[in-house]
Amino acid sequence: MKRKLLSLILVLTMVAALFAGCGASGSGNKVGVSMPTKTLQRWNQDGDNMKKQLEAAGYTVDLQYADDSVETQVSQIENMINSGCKVLVIASIEGDSLGTVLEQAKEKDVKVIAYDRLIMNSDAVTYYATFDNYMVGTKQGEYLRDALNLDSAAGPFNIELITGDPGDNNARFFFNGAMDVLNPYIKEGKLVVKSGQVDFDTVATQGWKTENAQNRFDAIISANYADGTPLHAVMASNDSTAMGVTNALVAAGFTPGDNWPLITGQDCDIANVKNMIAGKQAMSIFKDTRTLAAKTVEMVDAIMKGGNAPVNDTKTYDNGKGIVPSYLCEPVFADINNYKELLIDSNYYTEDQLK
Ligand code: BGC
Repeated sequence: MKRKLLSLILVLTMVAALFAGCGASGSGNKVGVSMPTKTLQRWNQDGDNMKKQLEAAGYTVDLQYADDSVETQVSQIENMINSGCKVLVIASIEGDSLGTVLEQAKEKDVKVIAYDRLIMNSDAVTYYATFDNYMVGTKQGEYLRDALNLDSAAGPFNIELITGDPGDNNARFFFNGAMDVLNPYIKEGKLVVKSGQVDFDTVATQGWKTENAQNRFDAIISANYADGTPLHAVMASNDSTAMGVTNALVAAGFTPGDNWPLITGQDCDIANVKNMIAGKQAMSIFKDTRTLAAKTVEMVDAIMKGGNAPVNDTKTYDNGKGIVPSYLCEPVFADINNYKELLIDSNYYTEDQLK
């Protein structure tokens, strides 16, 4: 009798273990996370945070980085669909290039969350989780307005502009946000763009690449500022482009604390925060990737459970096929005065990482 009971318990335990195994690793709760590249720090953090938080919520995660290649991203997404992922979280390399592969997702009823960057011209996108991209730009513009004291100083001040990849829908939001603040001062003549390069396409940076930013600024500096003409500010949309500007300034012999311009940025990448501490970058927008990951996990969870995810914007992000319901997290700016509180006290970085 006792032996029978024991074997019954054993069998029941095995069956339970089998079911538990199915629940944890079966295709029923698998989530594909497609990130654009490992070369920029933020996407590694985004990927790590998402994987950690999704696994903690009980999901199986297939996390892939696409090495900045659209082709690679498309084939990774295809694999995710074919291997039974039920939800895809995608930070696209090129917003416009995923329409075809996402048709397959739609056919298999795989739901898609656009992560950080909107996926364009596809009706397969269920939600968009991001930071308020326009606000990122306005905060950069306002920072420069206040730091240069544009409303009361006589000026004029020289400024140059640089933004991101034209295939990234965010880049225009960042740029427009900043320019809506700065344009009135340019019109008034208080801000002068000596290079004359002011329209989006001219100031865009292919692939957001530091070297492309540096090449453009090497040319701008040598044509306009090599004779000692002061450059007061550079509106850079993010940290990788700000780094290119910084490299060009160093190469041209500019010195922090002397003839160094105010430079904006975004992401609080470690190298850029170090530049901030060294007086080479005035500010960076802080977008806490832990918050964005948490919001995205809520969306995944709602989809998996057949409910509606919380959104706070249903009018801004039209991807060409309609408005995508979005959750916009709030960006904040970091500078030399508040970076410790924002980045170290919140355990985003350790003090050592910034040394
Ligand atoms: C992101 C930025 C990032 C940039 C380059 C944008 O889509 O929102 O945070 O700096 O891509 O990777």
